[in-house]
Amino acid sequence: MNPTPKHLDRVVAAFEATYGGRPELVARAPGRVNLIGEHTDYNDGWVLPIAIPYEVNVAAKTRQDDQMRVRAVDLGKQASFGLDIEEPSGDTWLRYPQGVAVMLRREGHALQGIDAVYAGDVPRGSGLSSSAAVEVAFAHAYAATAGISLSGRQIALASKRAENEWVGVPTGVMDQFVSALAREGHALLLDCRTLEYEHIPINLPDMVVVVMDTTVSRALAGSEYGKRRADCEAAVQALQPHLPDVKALRDVSPEQLEEHADDLTDVQLKRARHVVRENARTLEAAAALRAGDAGRMGELMHSSHESLRDLYEVSSPDLNAVVEIASSVDGVVGARMTGGGFGGSAVALAQQSAVEPLQRVIAEQYPQRTGRHAKVFVCEADPGASFIRL
Ligand code: GLA
Repeated sequence: MNPTPKHLDRVVAAFEATYGGRPELVARAPGRVNLIGEHTDYNDGWVLPIAIPYEVNVAAKTRQDDQMRVRAVDLGKQASFGLDIEEPSGDTWLRYPQGVAVMLRREGHALQGIDAVYAGDVPRGSGLSSSAAVEVAFAHAYAATAGISLSGRQIALASKRAENEWVGVPTGVMDQFVSALAREGHALLLDCRTLEYEHIPINLPDMVVVVMDTTVSRALAGSEYGKRRADCEAAVQALQPHLPDVKALRDVSPEQLEEHADDLTDVQLKRARHVVRENARTLEAAAALRAGDAGRMGELMHSSHESLRDLYEVSSPDLNAVVEIASSVDGVVGARMTGGGFGGSAVALAQQSAVEPLQRVIAEQYPQRTGRHAKVFVCEADPGASFIRL
């Protein structure tokens, strides 16, 4: 049975207040935190995220025409668009639901006009994929109201296309995939080239995943993300004359990269070193999770952070502060920045008994170092998106 959407009562009440009648269904899609495998997705590599217990819910009902009416409860906004829309229009928030409808239609799915409201609790601007949750929840709502059955992969890909082609943010596939396909108690090992995935049981009794939000908002649309992508593509081009089979950094082993280090600029080499080693770490981390080896998992998280800080250069003083503070607490086995970087959140793996000391030490030391307060919360690995009919 599908899980009950967390904000069911709230979105149903908002739907009734807005449109006067009961919704047919409520779809839910979670945010995510990535355990390891950062900046690897757009290099055709591997990622290992979990879905977190914060989600976006969409209450929807079919209309008799081809109008899409949407109310964003948490934003206090409301707007509509026609299903035949050809260009993005309206405020930024509307482009997510719009883009998903457009991409599903472009893929040949006949959607219905709907009335919809959405609300949720995925922190926005915290690097926890609130936008992917909106996209994936709407994709479910559109498919379900139109009576179309879509796979998790189809939902994830249409959502990613909406983000790239309609909203204009050049993300990889990780966020939408884990929101669509996560399994409770498991991390999702996704091969971002083949889109094959495996649910890896988190076999770590007494350990918890802790998210630490620096409360520095990060804008992915910012140019640094695009620059990192370009550095990686340039590194691939520089390697191709020597390694003609290389299509992406995923195809390069750490040894091959060192052999051809002289063919890359310093910046390209740093970026590429991060990606090829991070791919290796991610595969090893999946094995460590499965084997219940928390110590090894923690070491890999730690190396990942250093690499993102020093080689990929996407960390920030706040992220480094929260990771260093967390790492100093007994029982915290690993900590690293997570997501795109430049703010947003960090993730730690900690013994259950270390959570309270971790929260206390961060509350004391993080404001001293940064002048800000961090938000710290424990996350179970939650199930991916679904919907219920009312
Ligand atoms: C953001 C993007 C993802 C991924 C991460 C970095 O979260 O949305 O696709 O590239 O950054 O790992």
